[in-house]
Amino acid sequence: MDPIVPTERVRPVQVAEDTWLIRQFIHGVLPVSAFINSLVIKGREPVIVDTGSRPNRTAWMEDVFGLVEPDDVRWVFLSHDDHDHTGNLREVLEMCPNATLVTNWLAVERLAIDIALPLDRVRWVNDGESFDAGDRTLVAVRPPLFDSPTTRGLFDARTRNYWAADCFATPVLEATENVADLDPGFWREGISSFNRMNSPWHQWLDAAKWGRELDRLQALGITSITNGHGPVTSGMYVQEAYNLLRRLPDEAPFVSLGQSDLDTIVNSVAA
Ligand SMILES: [Fe+2]
Ligand SMILES: [Fe+2]
Repeated sequence: MDPIVPTERVRPVQVAEDTWLIRQFIHGVLPVSAFINSLVIKGREPVIVDTGSRPNRTAWMEDVFGLVEPDDVRWVFLSHDDHDHTGNLREVLEMCPNATLVTNWLAVERLAIDIALPLDRVRWVNDGESFDAGDRTLVAVRPPLFDSPTTRGLFDARTRNYWAADCFATPVLEATENVADLDPGFWREGISSFNRMNSPWHQWLDAAKWGRELDRLQALGITSITNGHGPVTSGMYVQEAYNLLRRLPDEAPFVSLGQSDLDTIVNSVAA
């Protein structure tokens, strides 16, 4: 059995000034597929945001280091400790000797079973704290939905792009660049399904408190949203994305697939 899930190479796309979305496309067992994204900010002090996944290491390295020289990378920001965001962390730290890893205490603890991070190259930022990357201030802002308690998004105060980690993601049918290119109904259902699946506690949210958390994010003045698993969200779709998340306390729990679905999948592969 091949232990590596095949991925499809998709070229980086520029989402804002100096800001590139690094993409790979992974086909699951269902007809819908998902991106595994990361970000490169080519400012005065270049930043890599999340480090992709192991199956796409060669292409990920070519895409990232086609945009920035390893020696020039000054910061590596880790949104959370999931394997689809940390797949090349060890390699990046080895290749980029001038980079400081920006993360938080709990992420270091949770990663310790896999990697002993060089603590003298680490900076901890908590929700709301920021660091200066030379020509811009980057603010760690926890997204309203997440699947790891270590999660922090990253708001670029210069470009007003927000890296939302897993939040606002959506499955897609093909490697679409922007959610504006999706069928509107498919996107609305996709963002709802993905976020209910990834954060099943949405059903226990107090609507008023939830609204204030989204207000906090909206107050930043974000003009584009990038995330680990979807196309770019920009323009009028940013407001619509907030509107869709606001409904989640009243939406039904995501219903997972079961054994009968697995039987169907296995039989279709065997046929
Ligand atoms: Fe995650
Ligand atoms: Fe993820």
